[in-house]
Amino acid sequence: MKKIGILLSGRGSNFEAIARNVQAGKIPAEIAIVISNKEGAGGLAIAREMGIKALCIPSKGKEREAFEQELVAALREAQVDLVCLAGFMRVLTSYFIREFQGRILNIHPALLPSFAGVDAQKQALEYGAKFSGCTVHFVDEGVDTGAVVCQAAVPIQDEDTVETLAARILKEEHRIYTEAINLVLGDRIRVEGRRVILKK
Ligand code: GAR
Repeated sequence: MKKIGILLSGRGSNFEAIARNVQAGKIPAEIAIVISNKEGAGGLAIAREMGIKALCIPSKGKEREAFEQELVAALREAQVDLVCLAGFMRVLTSYFIREFQGRILNIHPALLPSFAGVDAQKQALEYGAKFSGCTVHFVDEGVDTGAVVCQAAVPIQDEDTVETLAARILKEEHRIYTEAINLVLGDRIRVEGRRVILKK
């Protein structure tokens, strides 16, 4: 059975959607560990309620690499095959990325390369875009720059606020993260340059 490690910083709804799909047998893997850099993260409470190993490794006041060494040690101990960032609000250094080369996914609430970085839904609304969406991508050294695994588009309506748009996007996030995990863990894709291609 393949093992997934989740990194998060907040609410944890993407993690919960993944965990429910694991429970329902829609992802043939187990979540071996959930790690938050914030003690108060809702995602930690959800994990503990679901009986999933959950721990806090605080990032505050630590050198980036010292923090990441602790993350790597915990993920290695849990023997994870895939690291999924689910609302993890820290940029990872090349040290961490090398340790899990090609085995780190992130979800971003916009159609990359549009609206990278923080407050992506607000950026899309303020720009006046007519569509936005979400992207699951491999993580590389940049901010939201890795190869795209899955995307979903949603319309932006005249009445939208950041909250209503974020909610419409989040529904799609919960769907495509599972899809992307299954593509990667099922070895159903290959990466050619920036392009992620379905194996025939
Ligand atoms: C999600 O919308 C995710 O796409 C976003 O944070 C939210 C976390 O929600 N991630 C980023 O903006 C990363 N740059 P969740 O904790 O309920 O999954």
